[in-house]
Amino acid sequence: MASEPHLDFEWDPMDTANGIPYDVYKKLREEQPISKTSTGAWFIAKQTDLVAAAKEVEIFRASMREPGVVVPPEEMMISEIPEPRHGQVRRIVNSAVAAHRLGRVEDYTRRLTNQLLDDAIGRGRTELVQNVALPIPTSVIAVLLGAPEEHHRLWGNWSDEVLLGDYPRFNRGERGEGLAGAHPEFVGYVDEMIAKRRSDPHPPEDFTTRLLRTEVEGKRLSDVELRTLLVFLLISGNETTRHLISNLLYRLASQEGLLETLHEQPELIPTAVEESLRVDSVVINLVRTVCRDTVFRGHAMREGDRIFFGVASASRDEDFYDAPDEFRLDRPKPKAHAGFGAGPHVCPGASLARLEGRVLLEVAVERLSKITLEPGFEFEKVPVFWANGPLRLPVTLTPRD
Ligand code: HEM
Repeated sequence: MASEPHLDFEWDPMDTANGIPYDVYKKLREEQPISKTSTGAWFIAKQTDLVAAAKEVEIFRASMREPGVVVPPEEMMISEIPEPRHGQVRRIVNSAVAAHRLGRVEDYTRRLTNQLLDDAIGRGRTELVQNVALPIPTSVIAVLLGAPEEHHRLWGNWSDEVLLGDYPRFNRGERGEGLAGAHPEFVGYVDEMIAKRRSDPHPPEDFTTRLLRTEVEGKRLSDVELRTLLVFLLISGNETTRHLISNLLYRLASQEGLLETLHEQPELIPTAVEESLRVDSVVINLVRTVCRDTVFRGHAMREGDRIFFGVASASRDEDFYDAPDEFRLDRPKPKAHAGFGAGPHVCPGASLARLEGRVLLEVAVERLSKITLEPGFEFEKVPVFWANGPLRLPVTLTPRD
């Protein structure tokens, strides 16, 4: 029998402003792993259910738009594109991201991280989110996509502006319709990158050129599709990876002995990155819309219902992790978390994000003997409902002798 298990307490999964409600998640995992919240939206709390739901792409669609907002297919972001076309666009993205392994990205990331830490050490007291965590992903993605690295601040600002504005929810910003109207400077810049490569008989061998040349369903992507994809890649890789780096720096500063352990056993660094992605999950929730009436794992869901995939909850699922709230370096399967999502929309930038996190830790534990948080520091989460990372990290850095 299908059921509608309403929660017997008021709770809005969007409300993460005062911190992530891990105690509510725990109660839900124990008592009502799939529940209907007081807002009318569904919430999935456990990892197995989340992974199963993430595979049901015909039933649960990513929804960043307000109900009723329809956009032309060319302007759909990759997470919204229905199958089978999504799979084809994904193949292009995967192959273009995979190319970073061959490229200069790791060397570049290491040089940049060293330089940012040099500057921060020189200042003694510094704020790590703005001065270290933010510039790394914006610069790395700029280099990967083939934009001059000195433009990374522009990209970072534009991407923040899109994220904090009304686009894509209403498919318009205060300045106009669609992405082009909502952020003309960003779009103009990306369009010019595309136009330059189209007119150049020997374009640079970068990600953007690769995207231009690859075919989907026997056709190349149009300029508007390319622009939408490039802007989305930039935004999705930027804020998320910034929080991963900030979370790692916060762990180094606040978890007794971690910095020394990783200095003595640098082979544990990849595990530390995974453990951060799990226990400090950057993505708190993914939001989907139910596309047709369905029964999912015994629960009757109606077309148009909203459903939250509780990534931060699933990543602390007792069925998968002993002492799930603890940050530990001895997890048997450190990569098994849902921090990058699951199913056909699983994050295509995961290897790049892992690379940036690993290099950050390698450089930080080699260069620093201590990161001291400003006296009285209190962790304040960024004001984005789905994202987890500190807004500020004011610290004093002590270099190694
Ligand atoms: C720590 C860093 C990151 C985290 C935690 C993260 C997390 C995620 C998650 C959970 C999803 C699934 C979304 C869904 O199912 O709706 C996703 C999708 C995506 N991510 Fe990431 N991401 C990170 C870094 C990156 C980077 C560096 C890039 C770009 C190079 C990127 C590009 C994308 C794209 C394009 C998608 C959409 C994929 C699709 O719909 O097929 N991400 N990411």
